[in-house]
Amino acid sequence: MSNTNLITTDEEQILHIPPEAIDIFMSEMQVYRAAIKEMKTKLENLDDSFHSRYEYNPIHHIETRLKSMPSILKKMEKMGYEFTVENMKEVLNDIAGVRVICNYLDDMERVADMLLNQDDVTLLHKKEYHKYPKANGYRSLHLVVSIPVFLADEKRDVKVEIQIRTIAMDLWASLEHQLRYKNKNNIPVPEDLSKRLYGCAIVLTEIDKEMQRIYDEILKLSQQ
Ligand code: GTP
Ligand code: MG
Repeated sequence: MSNTNLITTDEEQILHIPPEAIDIFMSEMQVYRAAIKEMKTKLENLDDSFHSRYEYNPIHHIETRLKSMPSILKKMEKMGYEFTVENMKEVLNDIAGVRVICNYLDDMERVADMLLNQDDVTLLHKKEYHKYPKANGYRSLHLVVSIPVFLADEKRDVKVEIQIRTIAMDLWASLEHQLRYKNKNNIPVPEDLSKRLYGCAIVLTEIDKEMQRIYDEILKLSQQ
């Protein structure tokens, strides 16, 4: 992956960022990219190890993303911070983002616990939207952790935001995000549509619970 596609020359000009700052920013992004790789490997190893022990994979798949420079600038402005690399490292938790999509409800905490048990993973924040969904129906388990990244001549602790959710939670969040994005003119979403979206979240929650029950019963049968 090349650094150059993070920001275009046009954006540099529009955003009035001095070239030296861009260079520092780019090398910082390399550290976050390394943290994403490190975290993805940790999760894949956990999944493999779980499989070799229990013949079962708790993780369906993993997605990663590095926040783009325009998004970083927009968010810092919204939060009321001047753009400096120091401020960015301090206030943004989601430059390195990892999403873990699990098969069943119980897998979410299983994966979180296995990860947090590792002695080089430090939990900074936790949001349990899977237990206490947001008013719009959004569910997921969010962790912000810090992990060490070993560079050529130093070790750095880097923050990574991890969103852990089921396939059903991911279905809802992806479509809800798309719908919000589609609403380009920021027209307030009619209450009826919000209610219907919320209704979909409730149905998907029931599906998650029922799939878990079915899984548990099949497991019991196979152990008889
Ligand atoms: P952001 O400023 O959006 O990063 O939120 P935050 O700092 O308050 O953190 P939070 O843990 O609440 O949300 C982090 C991320 O979770 C968001 O950037 C989204 O990716 C996802 N998320 C949170 N709420 C929603 C939601 O209502 N719908 C969808 N689709 N995604 C959400
Ligand atoms: Mg975010």
